[in-house]
Amino acid sequence: MKLKKQMLGLLDSNRGIYLSGEEIATMLNVTRTSVWKVVKSLQKEGYEINAVTNKGYCLSEDTDILSSPGIGKYLSVEAGELCIETQKTVDSTNAMIRQKAVSGSAEGFVIIAGEQTNGCGRFGRSFYSPSDTGIYMSVLLRPTLVTDKSTLITTSAAVAVCEAIEKISNKTAQIKWVNDIYIGGKKVCGILTEASMGLESGMLEYVVLGIGVNVYRPDNGFPDEIKDIAGEVFEIRQSDMRNRLAAEILNRFVKYYHVLEQKNFINEYKRRSLAIGRNIMVLSQNGSIPATALGIDDDCRLKVRYADGREEYLHAGEISIKV
Ligand code: BTN
Repeated sequence: MKLKKQMLGLLDSNRGIYLSGEEIATMLNVTRTSVWKVVKSLQKEGYEINAVTNKGYCLSEDTDILSSPGIGKYLSVEAGELCIETQKTVDSTNAMIRQKAVSGSAEGFVIIAGEQTNGCGRFGRSFYSPSDTGIYMSVLLRPTLVTDKSTLITTSAAVAVCEAIEKISNKTAQIKWVNDIYIGGKKVCGILTEASMGLESGMLEYVVLGIGVNVYRPDNGFPDEIKDIAGEVFEIRQSDMRNRLAAEILNRFVKYYHVLEQKNFINEYKRRSLAIGRNIMVLSQNGSIPATALGIDDDCRLKVRYADGREEYLHAGEISIKV
């Protein structure tokens, strides 16, 4: 496993350049046979590694596969301290991180997958997570925070995703309260934060921050149930983009998270709101009520006014907006 990671790192930092089996073997202090075996195994996993007699091995410049060395090269010093594991397919990265949390893993453990077979969304929904077109990641956090403030994690992550998308694309990303990310009227990212709290302390024991981004349109399009709502960040595949986007999201999130209670992201959160000033529907188990979204306060609560003039601050929940 370690050799695979090292070789991938080496090939990745020499994209488009041929390295001979001998060169790689010498650099990594292994035999040429081991190099060849690892190349075969990486090719099986889908990495486009060209193998040419008398030239050696070369990772195609167009490769866009998630890998921890690939993500690592875009990470800031702060985010570089995260422990990132990538997986081709998992059931749910949130479920995996929950298990890690229970078994005592430290804060900063991150799992990023290229596909989820049982991706979870908010309100018990599933999150469509097809292979090779998205980023499905979960971060284990152990914040010293009272439970009331857990919204800060979700909302800062929403801002981090918007800023990361804008840095690497020419798209404007907005937030549908509380934490759905939209581009051009389509949802491109959902965030699911799950927490375990100490009943007596009122403090968070651990938090699983799960982020799912539709980077590209799935090969067969989005399923009927979401095809009118879901969108993607890029229409055309871009070299190394998923590694880069994953890293940019983490870079920004870590920066906000380290000083979370300073709420350095709050103005950006408000500025990017899709809801403010719009007629919305406040959705609850009892149905949906029309309202006007008046504003967002510094605790990320949505202030709404109902038709009868009554005003309310919503802490959490769901709204619908015609976008
Ligand atoms: C939503 O839009 O309802 C939230 C979707 C959150 C999806 C992400 S993908 C990574 C992580 N693992 C999961 O099972 N869910 C979250």
